[in-house]
Parts: sequence; structure tokens; C-alpha cells
Amino acid sequence: MNLGVNIDHVATLRNARGGVEPSVLDAALICEMAGATAITIHLREDRRHIKDEDLKTLKKNLKARINLEMAATDEMQNIAMSTVPYSCCIVPEKRQELTTEGGLDVLGKKERIKELIDALHSKNIIVSLFIDPDKEQVKAASDVGSDYIELHTGAFANAFLGENKDVEFNKLKAAAEYAQSLGLKVNAGHGLNYENVSLMKEIEGLDELNIGHSIVSRAIFVGLEMAVKEMIELI
Ligand code: PXP
Repeated sequence: MNLGVNIDHVATLRNARGGVEPSVLDAALICEMAGATAITIHLREDRRHIKDEDLKTLKKNLKARINLEMAATDEMQNIAMSTVPYSCCIVPEKRQELTTEGGLDVLGKKERIKELIDALHSKNIIVSLFIDPDKEQVKAASDVGSDYIELHTGAFANAFLGENKDVEFNKLKAAAEYAQSLGLKVNAGHGLNYENVSLMKEIEGLDELNIGHSIVSRAIFVGLEMAVKEMIELI
């Protein structure tokens, strides 16, 4: 299984003082050197962490694939079409949320999502849709021609120490199986950490995990290179 490291919170820390450190590019280069196959960044509408310049700098300097998380807006579509990251993961976005709270409603926005996917495909950008482990959303993702889905593991992560762990885990497993039966490739992410991540190995055929908060948090204690290597070891 591959690891995509989400480095948004390196930018969160940098922005806290409005300066240039810690460097988002240096963090990405360390993750790449430690074995991450992709660097994931979320360019939010409010630019609360990653900024437009970060995307350009990473694109110029990284060998690892850049996975751009973005809302399905015209602004983000234009940015993706002009910078051409390796892949785009389409996420829902609410201005007030602390982090991406739920999966994308592909079913309810099929036309717009299909139009966006077709545009990104015209630039050979691989497209993933960040969805809850819900059969109807998986089917809709297939209908609109997505290459990947990224399963939202947040509910599983929240339930990990409680009674609903198995229920949430089985939803992920069933959604992954169903997606693969429709020809979709499957990634997963959100809320994964050094304790709960091992269970992801029990989901057949997962391609990549996108993990951010837990790795950047662990990096405070052991350094970023070690934090990434430890996660790779676990998956
Ligand atoms: N995948 C997606 C689509 C996300 O929006 C996020 C959070 O930005 C992540 C993965 C990473 O989540 P976490 O920071 O909880 O590991």
C-alpha cells in the first residue's frame, strides 16, 4: 500500500507567524525521501493553510506525485487546469469546518462533477472523489467516470475505540469491494493514525492512504522523516 502524506499542517504552522518557516517544500522533500509516493495538499477557498504559491513551488521541485485536494468550484478547476498536478481529489468544503467533515455528494451533483472530471481528464489529470463508504455514492462515482474514490475513514477513526468500530470498518470494506467490482481504484484517508491504520491492510486492494494530522503531530517528537518511515512500516 502506498502512502500519500498530507502536509497541510506544515503550512498551518508556518501561517501562524506569517513567515516562511517551516518550509512546506522542505517538508515535502523529506516526506518524498522517506518513501511517500504522493504529497497531498488541500488548497482551500480561504487559503487557511496551503497557498497558491505552495502548489506552484511543489510542482516545480518535487518528484513525488502531487495530489491536489480541491472543492468542485470554477476557481479550483482553473487552478488545477493551469498547474496540472498528477491527481486531483474532489472534496466537499464548508467555510466554517475545522477539517473536511463528510464525503462529497456525488449523487446529488452528478452533472457538475462529471463536467469537472471531463475537464481534468482533458489535461491527463487523474481524478479521485472523496466519498463516504456508501454504495449509492460509489455507484455515482463510477457513473461520472472517476478513476479513483478515496473512502472517508473519519467515521471509522472516530469509532475506533468504541462499540461501532466493526460496523464502520465493514462499511469501508464493503464499499471498497463494490468500487473495485465497478472498475474504480480505491484510496482511503482521514483520521488515520499509528493505532488504527493497521486495519486498513485488511481491506483488499487499497492503493494509497492519505494521512496528514497524525504524521505531522508525530513529527514534533521524532522528526518528519522518522514519522513518515514509521507509518510506511505500519502499512
Ligand atoms: N484525505 C482527504 C480527502 C482529506 O480532506 C484529508 C484532510 O485534509 C485527509 C485525507 C487527511 O486527513 P488527516 O489529516 O486526518 O490524516
